[in-house]
Amino acid sequence: KRKFLIDCDTGTDDAIAIIAALYAKEIDVQAITTVTGNVSVKYTSENTLNLTRYLGSDIPVSVGAWGPLKLHSEMCYAEETHGKAGLGTVQLPKSADRFDREKAPALIYRKAAEAEGQLEILAIGPLTNIAIALLLYPSLKKSIKHLWVMGGAVYGGNVTPTAEFNFWCDPEAARLVLKSGIPCTLVGLDVTTKAVLTKDDIKGMKALGTRAGKVVADILEFMAKRHEAGGEDLLMHDALALAAALCPSCLKCKDYYVDVECEGAYTYGHAEVDVWGETGRQANASVAVDINVPQFRKWLYETIAESKE
Ligand code: BDR
Ligand code: CA
Repeated sequence: KRKFLIDCDTGTDDAIAIIAALYAKEIDVQAITTVTGNVSVKYTSENTLNLTRYLGSDIPVSVGAWGPLKLHSEMCYAEETHGKAGLGTVQLPKSADRFDREKAPALIYRKAAEAEGQLEILAIGPLTNIAIALLLYPSLKKSIKHLWVMGGAVYGGNVTPTAEFNFWCDPEAARLVLKSGIPCTLVGLDVTTKAVLTKDDIKGMKALGTRAGKVVADILEFMAKRHEAGGEDLLMHDALALAAALCPSCLKCKDYYVDVECEGAYTYGHAEVDVWGETGRQANASVAVDINVPQFRKWLYETIAESKE
């Protein structure tokens, strides 16, 4: 089985991505590390622990960074999208289990070392933990097989007109990770805003009759209400980054050189994707540019349908 580590800011759509990863037959999730993003790391960690334990998984959950490499003037969460505690109106039983003793960067390093060059990372929050791990352990960049990142956009933004949330939360981290030379696939808003689920998917998930199906259905119901009240669609940003890894036919990707704007007054956090080859630099990322939506919905459903209880 392929070895994965998930770094996330759980998060409604993160939770769905985690669930899909736990039931995907071809991978073994070795650990989950958490970061501040959608809400503070206190909540993203608790949500992740509660979710995994509710689903019967004892996978290590390790707490990561409280804030970005370079602090913004204020912490900016995405509470309007994910609710105050990160999972909308969804309440999971509180787990009595503990977080892993190792902090996120140390655990990322150890899991990469143990996997001997075979570890793949699904990064679906701000890239702070991975950047810190790379700063603390310079050899790490040679031992990660591939990074599957939800972040950035060739076109537009969901926090500012030009910046996507995960990159905007920690642009320095995103820049550092992209410059590390680790093979990387970027799944950004160009495709994730098309990864829309519908009320039919809520029915389908409920009908599975499993805990996983119920949690996904509850999250989708929260998203549907949010959408009816004028919020974003039922967007599967983070699960689509996992699909990039496990269902390659779901996406079409192109290789580009990508950097991240860390200064701009208007463009802070913008993913600078060199689509015309203007920099003359070698591509450092495979960027998702098109999505097969029915294929993605089918893959997501079939993956979560692997849950048995
Ligand atoms: C990203 O930001 C978060 O709100 C989502 O979980 C996703 O990772 C989309 O911009
Ligand atoms: Ca996320």
